[in-house]
Amino acid sequence: MYNDTKQPQNAFIAPTAHSRQRLPWRRILLSAFGLYALYCFAHGSPLLASPLPSYTGPHGVGAIDLEVPLNGGSRRVADAVHKTTGQPVFEVETLLATVYYPTDRDFRSHKPRYRWIPRPISLTAQGYARLASLDNCITRPIFTLVLWAVGGAVTIPAEVDAPLLRPGNGHDSFPVTVFSHGDVSSRTDYTQFLAELASRGHVIVAMEHRDGSGPGSIVKTSASSPGRRVPPLRPSDIQHPDPDSEIEFDRDAFKRAQLAFRDAEFHAAVDLLHAINNGTPILNTRDPVSTLPSWTGRLNTTHLTLAGHSFGATGALQALTTTLSSAPVAGWILDPGKSSGPLNPNATVPILVVHSNSWSRTVSPFYQRPHFDTVRDLVSAIPAPSWFLTSIGTAHPSVTDAPLIEPLLLSWTTGTTLDVQEALREYVRVVDDFFHFVRDGGQRGILSEKATHHQYDEWVSEEREREFPRDLARLWQIHVTPANQTRLMECPVEL
Ligand SMILES: *[C@@H]1O[C@H](CO)[C@@H](O)[C@H](O)[C@H]1NC(C)=O
Ligand SMILES: *[C@@H]1O[C@H](CO)[C@@H](O)[C@H](O)[C@H]1NC(C)=O
Ligand SMILES: *[C@@H]1O[C@H](CO)[C@@H](O)[C@H](O)[C@H]1NC(C)=O
Repeated sequence: MYNDTKQPQNAFIAPTAHSRQRLPWRRILLSAFGLYALYCFAHGSPLLASPLPSYTGPHGVGAIDLEVPLNGGSRRVADAVHKTTGQPVFEVETLLATVYYPTDRDFRSHKPRYRWIPRPISLTAQGYARLASLDNCITRPIFTLVLWAVGGAVTIPAEVDAPLLRPGNGHDSFPVTVFSHGDVSSRTDYTQFLAELASRGHVIVAMEHRDGSGPGSIVKTSASSPGRRVPPLRPSDIQHPDPDSEIEFDRDAFKRAQLAFRDAEFHAAVDLLHAINNGTPILNTRDPVSTLPSWTGRLNTTHLTLAGHSFGATGALQALTTTLSSAPVAGWILDPGKSSGPLNPNATVPILVVHSNSWSRTVSPFYQRPHFDTVRDLVSAIPAPSWFLTSIGTAHPSVTDAPLIEPLLLSWTTGTTLDVQEALREYVRVVDDFFHFVRDGGQRGILSEKATHHQYDEWVSEEREREFPRDLARLWQIHVTPANQTRLMECPVEL
């Protein structure tokens, strides 16, 4: 299958490489690709990639891109400059995010949909080339062309700048979530998952971190500025501003600086939600949006959850302890990072940790212990009702958009066994169940089940194996539930 998708790309990249002696199969492939391109064109679907499906919750989904300068001016979170440009690299100037939110199902925006790969594509392409250590003037246009062919035409099926869902029917104010992406990602890598939650009545701020972890981003401090490009960073790209300083940016120091950067962005996102809810005018340096003034008083900023995937999950665990003054009520933590530094164990609110199957199955040493054991003990010791589960049949990228766009490629390279749509549906369902629990303490779905496996793939007992429904065992292993939390047992927390 991989060759099927690869050949046409090559043919597409080098259409001039014709020769008199070309083999008939080449001509056949070229014609087949031509026909396929014609088909895609006629059907308005993207070349080589599946379009993103529409959302399944009871509401429609709106989206707005916002970039806002930090309250109180930019903040330097670590002293480091880029070796070639001499510019500070850990200075947080603005917050960039896409907000997904519920709207009327029938509303159609006249504004064009947001693109899945933000423009310019060449910026993202160069970032990937650089991350693959292949960045030069020959590979750059090739990466751009491939990225353009694979996902250039994909758009996010949310209505841009739609009005927030009308009040009434219990929708007077919506719970809010701030979501942080993983390494080598951007704000558009989890659109399906986050928009599915929005279609179920949540306002989600999908941040884009400018800590050098993404393939490329643009910081705009004012609407008229052309913007500053943020390329991906490696520890070897940076140094202390004082060349004689002894301070070295090894991997740990680098990750700590990135985490501090992301923490400042978490704070900025929480500030933004409060400002919107208070009706404070928002200084937005991206395309103007008109919906925000009608959001005053419509966000339940008391029902604030922090969330993230991979490095973003590590960041969310950290932010749960640093944003205490804004009182987040819960966190959901997906595949907390293995290589993104230590996990902050000090959260005091309910958390839901979900591991993909590959994240639990692969035994990774993590500060002298298996990563799985660290996560299990961390969840057990949280002084609030919390869960730790593994989603069976999934892999690390299952919760991102990538498998939806390139399903065959992803299942081939990551070994997922669960259908991509079903995997995403399960993630949406368990997070929705968790939201339900946070709202009124009710335990439903998989969260109403007792533990099944304290170790990955080892049943707690034969009896539990017999009684646990087959259709759930195909999808989940439950490692920690509130009943298993040591501190809760000693001193139960009233909800
Ligand atoms: C906001 O969320 C909190 C916490 O879940 C809840 O107790 C409260 O009732 C909600 N407020 C509204 C207006 O929905
Ligand atoms: C967690 O709390 C302990 C005890 O207060 C403290 O020593 C530790 O530094 C904290 N960890 C983090 C990562 O903040
Ligand atoms: C976890 O909880 C289940 C049922 O709630 C119980 O059977 C099991 O013994 C508990 N395990 C630990 C380690 O507390």
